[in-house]
Amino acid sequence: MEPSSTPQQLAEESIRIDSHLDGTGERSLADDVLDGLTRPFKELPPKHFYDARGADLFDQICDLPEYYPTRAERAILVQRAEEIAALTGAVELVELGSGTAAKTRVLLDALQAAGTLERYIPVDVTESMVRDCAETLTSEYPGLRVHGVIGDFERHLDHIPPAAGPRIVAFLGGTIGNFPPGSRRRVLRQIAGLLGPSDHLLMGTDLVKDPRVLEAAYDDAQGVTAAFNRNVLHVLNRELQADFDPEDFDHVALFDPHNEWIEMRLRARREHTTLVRDLDLPVHFDAGEGLRTEISAKFTPERLQSDLSAAGLELVRWLTDPDELFALSLSRVQPQ
Ligand code: SAH
Ligand code: TRP
Repeated sequence: MEPSSTPQQLAEESIRIDSHLDGTGERSLADDVLDGLTRPFKELPPKHFYDARGADLFDQICDLPEYYPTRAERAILVQRAEEIAALTGAVELVELGSGTAAKTRVLLDALQAAGTLERYIPVDVTESMVRDCAETLTSEYPGLRVHGVIGDFERHLDHIPPAAGPRIVAFLGGTIGNFPPGSRRRVLRQIAGLLGPSDHLLMGTDLVKDPRVLEAAYDDAQGVTAAFNRNVLHVLNRELQADFDPEDFDHVALFDPHNEWIEMRLRARREHTTLVRDLDLPVHFDAGEGLRTEISAKFTPERLQSDLSAAGLELVRWLTDPDELFALSLSRVQPQ
């Protein structure tokens, strides 16, 4: 008789992880720093926030009383996951920027209850998060296969495995809002390119509202968001041998009513020059000079509709919470 598989072996067979970051991650950080810190208005792209400490701080942000988006998005999912499962008939869920996949469980539960769930494909730049969530989810959902993709969703979408049936591509947490409008449409077009005729995109977007509510969500009383923002300087110190003193910078979060986005900056408290040793790059800051670290765009239904249609997508459902704080949109490729 064949010896039966141990639970350990079963777990190994149900997990596959591909990494596409080998060595190129540091390259992209170096390129982004050289490009971003030598511009007339200094800036850094947001994906560098999420090292292990950054990911942990982001998790704490999600539990803050001021940070409503996570709770609102979860509430919509809890209310509508069954309908999403029925409408899509998805056998697999691809998740871009999956993080700890905390809210994803609501969707996985609904797909499992509908009897269609086979595979989960988390895609994230943070290796530890992809590995941890593969372990946890295969043990929480017996029979679920997890194919993790460690990579950059701006560069590695073509490494996502082909669909084995109808799929949902989830892009939650308002992460699409962290791209400026031009890049946002490019990213959406690339995502649309992933979708076959029986697939759907499920995307979370934060909505325009009272600026005081918005600014508090990005500048909490406990200073967790400030620590998250400054963490990017710790990343530069460690990865590129820079000598930033994060305490030389104030955390600033302002709503820009013209662009309808929150802009996050680190503002130099005093004039100083920092050396980024690996790039041999001195970076001068005037007192009060800002370094833009993030935008978080806030949407109206009209803005979202026009972004989707520019990417060749059509809206199937617009799902929002009772207070209309946040929205989930379900969309699919426009028929030719
Ligand atoms: N989806 C989760 C996490 C949102 S935080 C939620 O809704 O709570 C954003 C996540 O996207 C982080 O886990 C970060 O590591 C990941 N991320 C950011 N930029 C990325 C990129 N360019 N490619 C892949 N993952 C990225
Ligand atoms: N996607 C999240 C958002 O735009 C990311 C985020 C939340 C964030 N709080 C932050 C990014 C603070 C930088 C700083 O809401």
